[in-house]
Amino acid sequence: MTPVSARVRGLIAEMTDAEKLGQLQIVFRPRLEDAAQLIRDGIGSVFWPRSAAATNEFQRVAVEETRLGIPVLVGLDVVHGQRTIAPVPLAQAATFDPALVEELAALAAAEARSGGVKWTFSPMVDISRDPRWGRVVEGFGEDVHLTSTMARAMISGYHGSSLRSPRAIAATAKHFVAYGQPEGGRDYNTVDASEHRLRNVHLEPFRVAVAAGAASVMASFNTVAGRPMHANHGLLTAVLKHEWGFDGVVVGDAEGVRNLIPHGIAEDLADAAAQAYEAGLDVEMGGAPSEVREALLARVDRTRLDDAVARVLTLKERLGLFDQPYVDEAAEITAPTDEALRLTRRAAVRSAVLLKNDDALLPLADHRRILLTGPYATSTDHLGAWSQPFGAPAGSIADEFASRRPDAEVSVVAGVDFLEDDDTGIAAAVEAARDSDIVVLLVGEPSALSGEAASRSDLRLPGRQEDLVRAIARTGVPFVVVIETGRPLIVSDWIDLAPSVIVAWHGGTEAAGAIVDVLLGDADPSGRLPMTWPRSVGQIPVYYAHERTGRPATTGGTLTTTTEDIGLHGPDNVQEKYTSKYLDLELGPQFPFGHGSGYATFSHGSPRLSARRIARDESVTLSVDVTNTSTRTGDDVVQVYVEDVVASIAPPVRRLVAFERVTVEAGATERVSFRIGDEQLGFRLADGRLVVEPGTFMLHVGSSLDRTQPVAVTVERA
Ligand code: GLC
Repeated sequence: MTPVSARVRGLIAEMTDAEKLGQLQIVFRPRLEDAAQLIRDGIGSVFWPRSAAATNEFQRVAVEETRLGIPVLVGLDVVHGQRTIAPVPLAQAATFDPALVEELAALAAAEARSGGVKWTFSPMVDISRDPRWGRVVEGFGEDVHLTSTMARAMISGYHGSSLRSPRAIAATAKHFVAYGQPEGGRDYNTVDASEHRLRNVHLEPFRVAVAAGAASVMASFNTVAGRPMHANHGLLTAVLKHEWGFDGVVVGDAEGVRNLIPHGIAEDLADAAAQAYEAGLDVEMGGAPSEVREALLARVDRTRLDDAVARVLTLKERLGLFDQPYVDEAAEITAPTDEALRLTRRAAVRSAVLLKNDDALLPLADHRRILLTGPYATSTDHLGAWSQPFGAPAGSIADEFASRRPDAEVSVVAGVDFLEDDDTGIAAAVEAARDSDIVVLLVGEPSALSGEAASRSDLRLPGRQEDLVRAIARTGVPFVVVIETGRPLIVSDWIDLAPSVIVAWHGGTEAAGAIVDVLLGDADPSGRLPMTWPRSVGQIPVYYAHERTGRPATTGGTLTTTTEDIGLHGPDNVQEKYTSKYLDLELGPQFPFGHGSGYATFSHGSPRLSARRIARDESVTLSVDVTNTSTRTGDDVVQVYVEDVVASIAPPVRRLVAFERVTVEAGATERVSFRIGDEQLGFRLADGRLVVEPGTFMLHVGSSLDRTQPVAVTVERA
């Protein structure tokens, strides 16, 4: 626990009850127009008023027009960029490039802080394995190690070397906890997770984020095992603050305290607020304390309230607010620099995932007649969920493509809209295809279908886009598909018709340029899937790191009208029928986690270990040689998955424990090495302890989950 400074202790000793409660609330964004008066009345935090000048005015009111002159803390959802909009976080995860994610966060922090933002409600580190949930776009996907690695990188990018820096903003790990596992994939819905699942999946990225120095943690809207997180003492205080020693600020989500009433655990707002602060909430986002002040003071232990005030004032002190509350308005960054645009374009390229490339139609050859069709041919909706309304807009792919191939005859026929149930435009697209040498289908889901309160029950391409794909396929003209999306989609109805498919996510301000770079081969799509792509919505949740079952299937199901005498099966002759699968679905997902390739090709040597047997708390070095077997430089993403062969719990079939993206020149070989020890081999018990059990572990090493080589390491009994 960071000791509270003399300045903060002194302030707390001077503060009235009203002044203390004022520090425990942030003025939620819709009330910005009366924020100045609320600050005069003592509210300690506010959403960004969208300019350095307006922020300085808020600070002037706080410093000059309140009794103690405590500066105000200015927060905002800087989720994937401020002025330069980067690819959505799920796309950033697809880069498998934490250094790049850190650079993007540092850029966002510099742009945001220059305008007066000091606190971002990012990174979102919720693990989600249900693409029906629209908020998968805001996180880093289904995997614990990938999410934890990206969380650490993003926090480091936001914080830099010091929160006092004019290029730093305080990071918030959100939404604590298990928000990504809502029943039915419906946002804000019930979560019921076992201690084992909490410890080894949902809590782990937050543990890593706290260890990485996250300045704050945001409580989530959901319940866990029947207790809403905004009033969950066991997790907010016992685990987060006491077990992990988190000394930052726990901020509520928007109206999360008020939501305790419809949750059915609070009689009124006073009851809700008292339960929340008693449970460990420090700052309420909405409107509670000022309306329920007397009740809070009557019910909540004063040391708890003083602790919350100390946390908030300490964060303000760490940000340097007491010494310099104002920003230099002349230095405000209001538009992307060329360097910022280059960085975000590079990120959009590196996040693109080449799902398939039969007949090597990609990169495009020098075709003379090219048709661009689909709603994303002309749309500029590339920014994705949680992009800033004041962020730099994106251009269209049609404009970008025409400028890059002035020599070609480029036709543009959208054919269908994103959502309209109208296929009347398909005929024109088909006619244009027949006069083309190649067709580029640019399809996907618009940003508005992604993000908060955007759960979908049908994950196919919306509107009549699938009909457009099928109609183009029927022409026999070669075609490639680019999908822009904030989540995995169901593509099983048409994917076998399409020889080459790229997933470009929502790539941000430079999305159009990046997509054309990849289509023309000026850049290599070398991302990997951060989430499994299901074959069917009925298959969800489907994710690679699932626990082993007693009846694993080796084949998919078959529909039949004949019934089998169940007497035919018993312990000695369990039929394939009696295994975990669907009768009406092939086995496994459409595309697995980690899937993807690029324009270059690679081969791996046999994985080597520095030792085959180790004692507990020892580690081994795992090395593998990566050879570029193509004629162009490219990136490979070497992934290491652990299989715990026998354990005291049903272990995951595989678990990603390490990865490295490596650039290899054509024909060259690079060696990649990893340390494999307790963190990689162990799992956490209900009390949070990491345990490594003796026995054999298979390490599966490769370019993707379905292309690995195994090597065994044994942990000896003590
Ligand atoms: C929203 C989101 C949260 C965001 C907050 C403030 O409801 O759940 O992620 O930080 O409100 O905008």
